[in-house]
Amino acid sequence: MQERLEEIRTHSLESIESASSEEDLENIRVRVLGRKGELTTVLKAIGKLSAEERPKIGQLANKLKKKIEASINARKEALKGVHISGQGPTPDGSFKATTDFFIPGLDPTLPGRQRRLGRLHPITQVMDEICSVFERMGFTVAHGPEVELDFYNFEALNIPPDHPARDMQDTFYIDDKVLLRTHTSPVQIHAMERHRPPMRVIAPGKVYRCDSDITHTPMFHQVEGLMVDRDVSFAGLKGVLTAFVQQIFDPDTLVRFRPSFFPFTEPSAEIDIQCVICKGKGCRICSHTGWLEVLGAGMVHPEVFRHVGYDTEEFSGFAFGLGVERIAMLRFGIDDIRLFYDNDLRFLHQF
Ligand code: DAH
Repeated sequence: MQERLEEIRTHSLESIESASSEEDLENIRVRVLGRKGELTTVLKAIGKLSAEERPKIGQLANKLKKKIEASINARKEALKGVHISGQGPTPDGSFKATTDFFIPGLDPTLPGRQRRLGRLHPITQVMDEICSVFERMGFTVAHGPEVELDFYNFEALNIPPDHPARDMQDTFYIDDKVLLRTHTSPVQIHAMERHRPPMRVIAPGKVYRCDSDITHTPMFHQVEGLMVDRDVSFAGLKGVLTAFVQQIFDPDTLVRFRPSFFPFTEPSAEIDIQCVICKGKGCRICSHTGWLEVLGAGMVHPEVFRHVGYDTEEFSGFAFGLGVERIAMLRFGIDDIRLFYDNDLRFLHQF
């Protein structure tokens, strides 16, 4: 009797597995578990067994019954799907016959898979926007290397080896002469070596300094600007930078030029805007001064022109540099620069 149970087990499980419709499954159920079914017959015969065999065979038969019922149900689930009717090609090559497709395993009530859209990093967005403001004023975009020679990063910008201004920038050196650029100002030199005036260029890009806290990251972004021509004046610089600030922030943002020092410009200025958070009233962001520093600028120093062979009698120029992260933080109201580089999608998806 045990052998008979084995036989029923093998062939019924096989046929359940290869059943291709609910109808097939129903036929199998009747054949095995129905009133006169194969397994039912065995179960009925158990009563005639010896007292010692009865419990053992009874247990096996009941287990098998449960197993077969479970397999039939599982196969039924797997066969669930949808009928889709539509038009498709027919065997004779004609089209337009209405066909009934059955797609097993397809549950059309499940929600669709969401595809998340990629987007540009907030720093890239702000940098693109800054560039397009200057492009509208006739500037073209130039690029320079991030691994730079000491000559371009310092020397040609009127910062000789023993100059105290080198201390302002915590430089990553690769060797004596090679370093990671600490600012985008060296692109001014590359641009002037390649072109003669008149020129209007901006240079967006990454810069590196050995510094890290809530307002500094070892890598950050700057946009450099340079305009050289006959009769370029400080008034022109004020006009360009005021127009820039008022396009990036509110059109009525106040701008202030403060005397400052950079080795590559003379005279030099730092440009403040009225605090965009408190509108000049004074708050934590502007250290209660009502002003925020956003740009460094000045008239190109004659020493810089001398390094690229420009005639200082004929040409004059202005230059400026700004930090992109700082502008982005003010635009979006972000108070920790490191958020830009944590790669946390919950942060990045907001832009
Ligand atoms: N290179 C300066 C810095 O990184 C910023 C700067 C100041 C650039 C004045 C300029 C400039 O072109 O004229 O701090």
